[in-house]
Amino acid sequence: MQATPIQAPAPARTPEAHRPVAVTGIQSSGRPHLGNYLGMIRPALALAGRHDVFYFIADAHALTTQRDGRATRRHTHELAATWLALGVDPLRMTLYRQSDLPEVFELTWVLACHTGKGLLNRAHAYKAAASANQAAGRPADHGVNAGVFAYPLLMAADILVLGAEVVPVGRDQKQHVEIAREVAAAFNAIHGPVLVTPEVLIDGRVATIPGLDGRKMSKSYGNTLPIFAEVDELRSLVARIVTDSRPPEAPKDPDTCRLFALYRHLAQPAAVAAMRARYLEGGLSYREVKEELVGLLEAGFGPARVAYRSLLADPAELDRVLAAGAERARERAATVIERVRHAVGLRAGAAVGLAGGGGAGHAGRGTGDV
Ligand code: TRP
Repeated sequence: MQATPIQAPAPARTPEAHRPVAVTGIQSSGRPHLGNYLGMIRPALALAGRHDVFYFIADAHALTTQRDGRATRRHTHELAATWLALGVDPLRMTLYRQSDLPEVFELTWVLACHTGKGLLNRAHAYKAAASANQAAGRPADHGVNAGVFAYPLLMAADILVLGAEVVPVGRDQKQHVEIAREVAAAFNAIHGPVLVTPEVLIDGRVATIPGLDGRKMSKSYGNTLPIFAEVDELRSLVARIVTDSRPPEAPKDPDTCRLFALYRHLAQPAAVAAMRARYLEGGLSYREVKEELVGLLEAGFGPARVAYRSLLADPAELDRVLAAGAERARERAATVIERVRHAVGLRAGAAVGLAGGGGAGHAGRGTGDV
């Protein structure tokens, strides 16, 4: 059985000065799972080399749902160890903790003042909470904290504060990046081209990754396969995946089978084709497919799990890596935030050119007429 290597092969390197900036984050509210990996982490890692990559742990976003500070801090360390175990080289890539960048929070407020409230009313997560309330006969905003409502603004600030050109995300985050684009455009319409408008990047090979129950794999559904679970846990989680009741001898439909839907993302193309043929022929039991799936997960993530465990055993070292990353990210953020302050008239913001060489500053524009 061949496993898909979990570390992106080092792509050809583009000289530093010409590399577009790519930024992406993951919320520290649970163990990273296969959906996170396939949808976002793998495509994000594949950009390193041709892009100047910034990966961060969105601990402030986690506060919208998580009140236990110890859990937030633990998940932050878990995610830092995850990125590193999966191939982040802190010397060539920037890994940091969102809350280490005060510029992000400052920009969030400025963006809030340039964003129509109606735009946020339409954000999927807020809309889903509001309609669930209405379906239950409660007021739309019942139990919805303002952080949930402002979530897309904080995310826009994460992206815009670094002048990101590319944002690799899973499909579920597409709307958030589109909101960031709209917010940047609204700001620029008033102040001139201060903020870079980012492009969303979605891995076309990865549609929604099904969870154990067939719904989208998501922490909020409790149906995930955590990538660094020990093999016993993986086996019992995979055992829970529901299939139809066709006996081993019967031909089976790979295209409606949840096991196959996961298998095809993990195995090499030739193995996927062979497995498809075995489904169609009959003589294959779902139990065998489950065993193969566990084998693929173990072969793919086992070695990284060992690295993950030892990284996690030294949280002080993780904090050092994150602090060094934050310093680099703040250097970039400082230029953007200076331009923003200058444009809106906050602090003693100086006129600075557009980061990434995209143009001159906007001395004299925007400050007087807001
Ligand atoms: N909302 C993203 C998630 O839940 C995490 C995130 C926060 C993010 N800020 C971001 C992703 C900026 C990309 C860019 O996974």
